[in-house]
Amino acid sequence: MQDKRFSIRTYGCQMNVHDSEKVVTLLEDAGLSAAASESEADLLVINTCSIRDKAEHQLYSDLGKLREWKAEKPGRIVGVGGCVAQQVGDRLLSRFGHLDFVFGTHHLRRVPAMLDGALAGRRAAWVGEDESQERFDLPARRPALATGPRRRAFVTVMEGCDMFCSFCIVPSTRGREISRAATEIDTEVRQLADQGILEIMLLGQTVNAYGRHDVRRGRAAAAGTMPFAELLGQLDAIPGIERIRYTSPHPLFYDAALIRAHGELEHLCPNVHLPVQSGSNRILEQMRRRYTRERYFEILGALRAARPDVAITSDLIVGFPGETEGDFEQTLDLVRVAGLVDSFSFKYSPRPGTGAAGMGAEVPAEVAQDRLERLQAQQRDQTLAYHQSRVGQEALVLIEGPSRRGGHQVTGRDLHHRVVNLDLCSSLEPPGAAEPGTLLPARVVGATPHSLLAAPLDPALLPGAEDPDFPRSRLKSSKRRADETESVDCAGGLAEDVLRVL
Ligand code: 5AD
Ligand code: SF4
Repeated sequence: MQDKRFSIRTYGCQMNVHDSEKVVTLLEDAGLSAAASESEADLLVINTCSIRDKAEHQLYSDLGKLREWKAEKPGRIVGVGGCVAQQVGDRLLSRFGHLDFVFGTHHLRRVPAMLDGALAGRRAAWVGEDESQERFDLPARRPALATGPRRRAFVTVMEGCDMFCSFCIVPSTRGREISRAATEIDTEVRQLADQGILEIMLLGQTVNAYGRHDVRRGRAAAAGTMPFAELLGQLDAIPGIERIRYTSPHPLFYDAALIRAHGELEHLCPNVHLPVQSGSNRILEQMRRRYTRERYFEILGALRAARPDVAITSDLIVGFPGETEGDFEQTLDLVRVAGLVDSFSFKYSPRPGTGAAGMGAEVPAEVAQDRLERLQAQQRDQTLAYHQSRVGQEALVLIEGPSRRGGHQVTGRDLHHRVVNLDLCSSLEPPGAAEPGTLLPARVVGATPHSLLAAPLDPALLPGAEDPDFPRSRLKSSKRRADETESVDCAGGLAEDVLRVL
């Protein structure tokens, strides 16, 4: 397979993005190389999402169009993985004659063999549930993939979900909760640190439920797991790792130790993305979320007591069956009282086989749309207010690369995971002191609903430093750029079904 080239389309959450990274490693280990574009690829893999019906329909539309792509060059192969693959399984093969293989979320490591089979004319689907630790047993990532230009990496700590929220398809696409042995996680993070990774994002469908089944059954030592807070403590001590984040936690699994960790661990970042879904206790119960709005506020209060500058973001659903205007107003109220810095909000989308799918009491589409818009407008104002409150403060920005605006503006993330854009001196060509992966100290000088604008603390990096009149021109130019950035959409906003890389 030495001469074959592949391309991967990824939809959905960070877990899917990370699964695609794993497939890249597997394919490269099998001798393939990444194609510069799909038109040059011999193998196209689609990693699918089924969280809402729109995401699922995307696959059918993609597959329809791929008939032509396949016909253009004999021998081309199409594979489908991810949540739709897990759900629909081999029925995808019967429905789409030009599809070669299907792999579920537990079968990434079979991809090279399935490709081999497909090249020999054998079509196959692997979608059963695999409850063994073996599915975590994947080849170490290549340094280029692990580091990329960003020096940030995802690390899987647990997979699957046993919560069965009534709206959610994930328990049937990702299977039962399973936690990875802590020594494996530790080894992976140490390897990443050795490769220059500064920031890790720990991943799991209910990440802070890590180890809970083993701990409850008294078999944590045998399984090599431990409570999530302990795992964080262990990773915090790994030299070289500057920033630790995790996503997505569930409110049910915040205990005193996890709250304390936010106050004590040096590298645990002051941001928590804590999905709340609704502000109405009646709807939360119907959603089977197992907490109340009061408990949610209690957790936020405790987090803020431990770490006063923590930035809280969340996921919200509007138009869940039976949601009244009063319920929705409770959601607006929660977003305000909780002081959410940002949120992703979605219109409820019925998913087959879930508890809520048969509830009836549908909220009319135009009502759900109106609620979504009102919620997003309120969030936009709150996000802007938060960003404005940061103006004048210092921020340490992990640079990712050129901003969307281009020119001499670069973009990165601060400790709180906010997008920060920085205008730099135009003589930095390429901007060496601010190249991707640099931790750049800066001061926030402007705010938009999507991002912060900051100026580097080092005067030699400021726009205008190349000007003989500098530093007289400096303040003027920072201010002008703050105004210009007002209209630039840098963070992806709150659009529905965005590729969610927080
Ligand atoms: N409809 C709408 N939004 C959903 N989410 C999960 N399932 C659904 C659904 N059926 C949202 C939740 C979750 C995020 C990843 O997607 O807000 O936290
Ligand atoms: Fe879905 Fe609920 Fe599990 Fe999150 S906790 S993945 S919303 S079932």
